[in-house]
Amino acid sequence: MKKRNPELLPIRIYGDKTLQKKAEPVIQITSEIKNFIDDLVYTMYEKEGVGLAAPQVGISLRIFVVDPFWYNEEGEKNPIVMVNPEFIEFEDQTEFEEGCLSLPEIYDKVVRASKVTIKGLNEKGKEVKYRAEGLFSRALQHEYDHLDGILFIDKISKLKRIFLKKKLNDLSKTTDANGVNLRR
Ligand code: NI
Repeated sequence: MKKRNPELLPIRIYGDKTLQKKAEPVIQITSEIKNFIDDLVYTMYEKEGVGLAAPQVGISLRIFVVDPFWYNEEGEKNPIVMVNPEFIEFEDQTEFEEGCLSLPEIYDKVVRASKVTIKGLNEKGKEVKYRAEGLFSRALQHEYDHLDGILFIDKISKLKRIFLKKKLNDLSKTTDANGVNLRR
């Protein structure tokens, strides 16, 4: 059987309605879902992200992928797939700068838990659990937020939001009548 080539999925940007919606749980990991996960992983690496959530490509399902290490460890790719994730524990707090493929050219510091424990299903439907810290912990929390329709700019101060207003308005201008906003 010939292996299917993964597809590059177009990224939705700020203003897109799927980015603001709470995503639905995955009922069953079908072959269609598996193909979608392959595409999501492929797109994350092509776009040089450390994570990518299904709503960012217009699919309102509780799936995200992260790989916070491939940058530093000789480019070795170890994608972590989370389907229907749930946090079990949050520990301590830390502030660090974040960016998002759906918010091009916007970076800001966000306060998040330093360490987290998360569980969910992997691409095979097997239950997995991770205790994460550092960039891994941050990426898990950032991507999880996408599943609840939350962007990192929703977590910064009101004052900082005011400074970003023009940039955000410019980004959302390209949203079409169906609420779809693709980067042009
Ligand atoms: Ni993001």
